[in-house]
Amino acid sequence: MLLTFILLGVVLALASIFYLNVYSYWARKGIPYETPLPLVGNMKGIGSKYHFRDINQRIYDQFKGKTPLAGMFTFLQRTVVIMDLDLIKQVLIKDFNYFQDRGAFNNPRDDPLTGHLFSLEGEEWRAMRQKLTPVFTSGKIKQMSEIVVKVGDLLVDSMDKTVKTAKVDHGDVEIKDICARFTTDVIGSCAFGLECNSLQDPNAEFRAKGRMIFERRRHPKLIQAFLFTNAKLAKKLRMKIFPDDVTEFFMSAVRNTVDYRLKNNIKRNDFIDQLIELRAENEEAAGKGNGIDLSKGLTLEQMAAQAFVFFVAGFETSSSTMSFCLYELALNQDIQKRVREEIEKVLSNTEGGEITYDALAEMTYLDQVLAETLRKYPILPLLTRETNREYKVPNTSFILDKDTRVSIPVHNIHHDPEIYPQPEKFDPSRFEPEAVNIRHPMAYLPFGDGPRNCIGLRFGKIQSKIGLAVLLRRFKFGVSKRTEIPLILGLRSFTLATENGIHLKVESI
Ligand code: HEM
Ligand SMILES: *[C@@H]1O[C@H](CO)[C@@H](O)[C@H](O)[C@H]1NC(C)=O
Repeated sequence: MLLTFILLGVVLALASIFYLNVYSYWARKGIPYETPLPLVGNMKGIGSKYHFRDINQRIYDQFKGKTPLAGMFTFLQRTVVIMDLDLIKQVLIKDFNYFQDRGAFNNPRDDPLTGHLFSLEGEEWRAMRQKLTPVFTSGKIKQMSEIVVKVGDLLVDSMDKTVKTAKVDHGDVEIKDICARFTTDVIGSCAFGLECNSLQDPNAEFRAKGRMIFERRRHPKLIQAFLFTNAKLAKKLRMKIFPDDVTEFFMSAVRNTVDYRLKNNIKRNDFIDQLIELRAENEEAAGKGNGIDLSKGLTLEQMAAQAFVFFVAGFETSSSTMSFCLYELALNQDIQKRVREEIEKVLSNTEGGEITYDALAEMTYLDQVLAETLRKYPILPLLTRETNREYKVPNTSFILDKDTRVSIPVHNIHHDPEIYPQPEKFDPSRFEPEAVNIRHPMAYLPFGDGPRNCIGLRFGKIQSKIGLAVLLRRFKFGVSKRTEIPLILGLRSFTLATENGIHLKVESI
């Protein structure tokens, strides 16, 4: 009995020393901070009451203008939120060498799909980024846009069918799903060389696997949270995140496509072709598993991981962008009319009214509408970086230790009334060239910035523009009985997503 009490006392004492030690960190560093709670840090209510952007909003409102950065805890992980735009530029661009990593989990040795560009670190990231940069040149994107236009035809067919059946439901259509099927088919075709058919068949395997990545987890929530906030430790413990069948599905999709193309000498000018060009002559020499030596080329596992990240980063982001855009156009009929007129005008000058890469470049109002969509709805509401060594913050006495998480509150900057007056108003004129020129370059970050920005930026824009152009030519979007005003955004996903999809009234023109 006595022993139990003593033990309990020791445990409690250790726990409180640990707690005081961890959470007194910012006070000891002399950096302004929001007071944390035990274990959850500043994340109380995340996923149940608040989204990440709400937590950042609280910190942004509390500290903006008073300090360039403020400390907080993502559970146990020390994090600084940066509010000052000049300092953001320093972190993303000028002092990039200190902030090259994201601190995201990766363990390519045991969990091959995690060895992708988004989560690789240090030299491995640098070498992979260098290898993949030529995959995304404008020449390559231009070639791929032809594949996208073909999938666009299927999107129109599919919407046609949906609109006919929707008549019974007063014309109401859930457009997020149909946009996601479009981008799944585009990326599936460009990154895996497959006709995914999810537009014709809503339950096609690729769409199902695509959903699974976001909805099904290998581990329960708590372990998941541990993995994301203790990425390095989790790697040492050789933990994995992807369920085995997801890994197997993507590995065999890539393996089969590569074998087929090589055997039959097929070229389609898509991501897979370009990955094949980067392939190692000799898998053994390229060093499977431990450590990555890209000088010899990519192994099949490494190719699969990159194809995987193109898929994940490519389909959800662009389909959300398209559907948020259509939602705003449904609420703002005058803007919708003006975009449609621009699309018609530009396409009346192309052969057979075909959508081409060059024609898309002429649609400048559509560009502005897309830019304003991503201003109001940045799909990644925050950017993350991690210090890889000690960093002295310019113009202050603050010093950031190695392994400090850095969070850039993109959503909150995009909704700051001092930068964007009436931030909830959808107003594409904010992106007229003169208006853009007078804003700070870091006031708009939907694709991040600096050497680690979105590598698929051009492709993402082209794919969204093609999808929007084909739809707006043939259909009119309006408000139905089921349209949510305002839109209800989900709290659980890291990205910006709606809770119940997006319902609009869709009519053929
Ligand atoms: C509208 C569509 C898209 C949006 C809004 C978007 C947004 C972003 C953002 C915010 C980042 C982080 C940048 C940073 O930390 O500075 C990112 C990174 C990335 N994106 Fe995108 N993205 C889009 C489309 C795509 C597409 C189509 C692909 C691939 C085909 C792609 C592949 C990637 C990859 C691989 C990274 C990691 C880059 C690195 O760490 O070196 N994205 N994206
Ligand atoms: C530091 O101060 C100088 C001079 O006021 C200014 O130009 C610069 O942008 C500041 N840097 C940061 C990161 O705030």
